[in-house]
Parts: sequence; C-alpha cells; structure tokens
Amino acid sequence: MTSTVPLFNPLDLSHTDDPYPRLAALRRELPVSTPLPGWHVVVRDADVRAVLADPEMWSSRRNNTSVAEERHLALSQLDPPDHTRLRRLLSPAFGRRVVEALEPVVREQAAVLADRLEPGADLVTAFTAPLPRAVLAAFCGVRDADAADYDRWAGAFTDLLGQRAHPEWPAFERWARRAVDGPALAGVLGQVDREEAVTFLHFLIVAGVPNLRLALGNLVLRLLGEDHWRAEGLPDAVEESLRLDPPALWQMRTATRDGVLAGTPVRAGQRLIAVVASANRDPERWGEDADAFRPGRPGPRAHLAFGKGPHACLGAALTRLQLRVAAEVLIERQPGLRLAPGFRFRRAGDFMSRGPAALPVHVELP
Ligand code: HEM
Repeated sequence: MTSTVPLFNPLDLSHTDDPYPRLAALRRELPVSTPLPGWHVVVRDADVRAVLADPEMWSSRRNNTSVAEERHLALSQLDPPDHTRLRRLLSPAFGRRVVEALEPVVREQAAVLADRLEPGADLVTAFTAPLPRAVLAAFCGVRDADAADYDRWAGAFTDLLGQRAHPEWPAFERWARRAVDGPALAGVLGQVDREEAVTFLHFLIVAGVPNLRLALGNLVLRLLGEDHWRAEGLPDAVEESLRLDPPALWQMRTATRDGVLAGTPVRAGQRLIAVVASANRDPERWGEDADAFRPGRPGPRAHLAFGKGPHACLGAALTRLQLRVAAEVLIERQPGLRLAPGFRFRRAGDFMSRGPAALPVHVELP
C-alpha cells in the first residue's frame, strides 16, 4: 500500500517553516522517503547517525554544490584521504585552549551589545547578528570595527559560475589574506596552501556566522518561552535548544555505490538528505517527551546539531562557549527582558537552516 503521509521536500520553504509535524509523521510511517526523483530523505536518529558515520558509502564530495572547481571545495565537501589530511592540519585551531582564550572576548562583546539595547530593539539586529561576527573576527585574528560584510559574504558566493566570479569576492579575498598573514588560528593556516587557506576562511564565515546568529536567536526564544531566563543550568539549556531547534536542519550526502538504506534500495549517485532536526526529536532515542524542553535530561550532548562522524563540526566548542556566555551576559544585564507583545516567529535562514528573522524585545532601562 502506498503511504499517504505528506513528504518533506527540503527545498520547499513551506515545509521547512515548521518542519516538525511533517517529520514526526515520516518518522512513524515512512523513515526513508523520495520526495524528488533521485533524492532520498532519512528522518530517524539511527539512520541519520548511520549515514553520517559512513563516508565510504555516503560521500560529502561537492556537498550542497552544483559546480565547483576541485581545488576550491570546502573542508565539508571533501572525502578521505583529502578530507583526513586537511582536517588533521586544521583541527589544532579549534583546540580547547584556543577556544577558552576567546571567552573574555565573547563576554566583553556581549556586554557592550547588551548594554546598548534600547526599548523596542530587535535583538537579532542589535545582538545575535553582531556578536558572532565579532567573535569570528577575533578567532581569525582580524581586527574589524564592523564586520557586517561577513553576513553578505556568507550567502553571496554561489557556485553557479564559481565563487570567485562574484563581484564581492575580491573584497573577501583581501580580508582573507589579512587573516592568513595574521597570528590567529593557532598558526595552522601557514601549513596549508594559500588557496586552500582562503577557501577555508570562506567556509568559516559560512559555517560560523549565520549558524550562530540563528542558534543564539533560537536559544533566547527557548529561554524566554520556557520561563528559563536564569543563569543556572545554562549549559544543559543550551544543549536542549540545539537539540530541539538545530540551526542546520539537515546534511546532504551522495551514494558512492548501490546499496540499501533502512530497507530502501539506493543507487550510486543518488542524493541523500539526512534530517538531523528530525533525528533530534526521535522518541526512539530521546523518549516520549522528545519534543519537550527538558534541561538536565541524560546524555544532553548526544544530539546531532553539530553532525556526527568524520565531518562533525569543528566549531562546536566555540559555539557552545558563545551560546552560554552570550546568554549569561544577556540575562545578567537584562534580567527583565521579554518578547514584545504580539511577537510572532518569522523564519530566517536559507532552505537548510532555521532561526528567528527578528526578535523585537521589551528591555528595562537602568
Ligand atoms: C550553531 C552553530 C553551528 C552549527 C549548528 C554547526 C553545524 C555544523 C554541522 C552540522 C557540520 C557537519 C556538516 C556535514 O556533516 O556535512 C559542521 C561542520 C563544520 N563546522 Fe560547524 N556549526 C556551527 C558553528 C561553527 C563555527 C562557529 C565554526 C567555526 C568557527 C564551525 C566550523 C565548522 C567546520 C570547519 C566544519 C567542517 C568539518 C568537516 O567537514 O570536517 N562551525 N558544522
């Protein structure tokens, strides 16, 4: 019998506006679906995990990209052995000490932005957007009074004609060369080819700026909406927010050979969407209250918001630090913060990511 459950087309914004009811139905009835010819969608935690852990069967090559010159592929678009080599070289830049050293920067920037909030402010424009830009600039060792360009650079360079054809590429490249020649990133950029370093820096902006803006917005919304506007238990609350509202909804892979995925035949070359946003709410993994915000649940970091396997997010520790410290500072400086009356969630993000477009808030002046 053919299933009548509505399919999830990840490219359809009306499906991703509120993807959760559709994904729950698919988890129950059709864990592997094919909304478009040659494209499969997996939604259960066990299947998503299995896909992300198996780069031999599921390639990341040219992930999310239609056209790209080989030498301009980002780290996330490589397979072993290229991926293994480059990731090993770059990983020290994300080590514990490097991340911990950034805590004062995050705290100071967050405090400056929090103190500047005015009545009627939009928290996205005034806080969740500028903070990740300032932190990325510090991480890359680049002094930028206003790093507003990063948001444009994150989205502007499509691969239609090759990223480098975009009129803004030269401005980005000038910025990237300053970072390559600078002292930060634990000196790792000096160990890779200059072109590779520039490509990597672009990927850092794509991965590290919009995702954090969305994650911070999702976190503030959860904390306010769940009556959890307090510093106690923040690390667990951060994990619950990432689990329930992952900014990156899904990851893409390509089958390297014919095979079977959870009982569904798959042909070499077919594409796969592994929906981590669904896996993160799978009752098989998280129990019957999987949809509930419950800080302190066991294994809080087992969610897949940062992916899994060889491509798991290198920026996870930096992200956790930023989310926790930003929330701590905001709560301390704005204990009475609340959403403006009549607030309604409007989604921001491209087709694969999700977070609030605006957060009009009521602030109490000192
Ligand atoms: C809320 C914020 C973030 C989220 C949700 C996130 C999510 C992810 C996910 C899901 C992946 C795996 C992609 C895949 O399997 O195809 C990934 C990879 C990656 N992320 Fe993040 N990320 C975040 C922030 C950051 C930050 C701040 C940085 C760096 C400054 C960063 C750097 C990277 C890098 C370098 C990779 C590629 C790893 C590889 O392919 O080996 N991310 N991220």
